[in-house]
Amino acid sequence: GSGKSVTNLTILGLHDRDRTAIEGEILLDDKELLTASERELERLRGNKMAMIFQDALASLSPYHTVGKQISETYRKHTGASKKESRERAIEMLKRVGIPQPEVRVDDYPHLFSGGMRQRAMIA
Ligand SMILES: Nc1ncnc2c1ncn2[C@@H]1O[C@H](COP(=O)(O)OP(=O)(O)OP(=O)(O)O)[C@@H](O)[C@H]1O
Ligand SMILES: [Mg+2]
Repeated sequence: GSGKSVTNLTILGLHDRDRTAIEGEILLDDKELLTASERELERLRGNKMAMIFQDALASLSPYHTVGKQISETYRKHTGASKKESRERAIEMLKRVGIPQPEVRVDDYPHLFSGGMRQRAMIA
């Protein structure tokens, strides 16, 4: 409870910006994030900065497969095709050590173990 999560949510600009007063500066490659627009932050999030949330089950949607959640994020950031994004999701699951990623890509989050969910978040 020392403030790690709160600090990092603030760095990402995911805090309640209208109702918090922050002193100092937050620099990313010399860019001041505290005064950056929401649009600029959206461009940076997932590209230059990202957070692996503590509670992976709460961060993943129970209604969509793990693979879909990874590939849709990839698609949104790169404009890649559905087919390519799915292949990329499988590749990322493989890189974080999920066995049989070409099968597990179609699993829903509740079928993953706690550690596997955290690795899916990293992917
Ligand atoms: N939304 C909130 N409203 C009020 N207080 C909060 C809120 N979120 C966190 N806090 C408080 O801020 C303090 C820091 O919380 P934070 O979640 O940043 O801790 P942490 O360092 O991530 O802890 P942990 O290692 O347990 O994850 C705690 O006292 C917590 O109760
Ligand atoms: Mg925390």
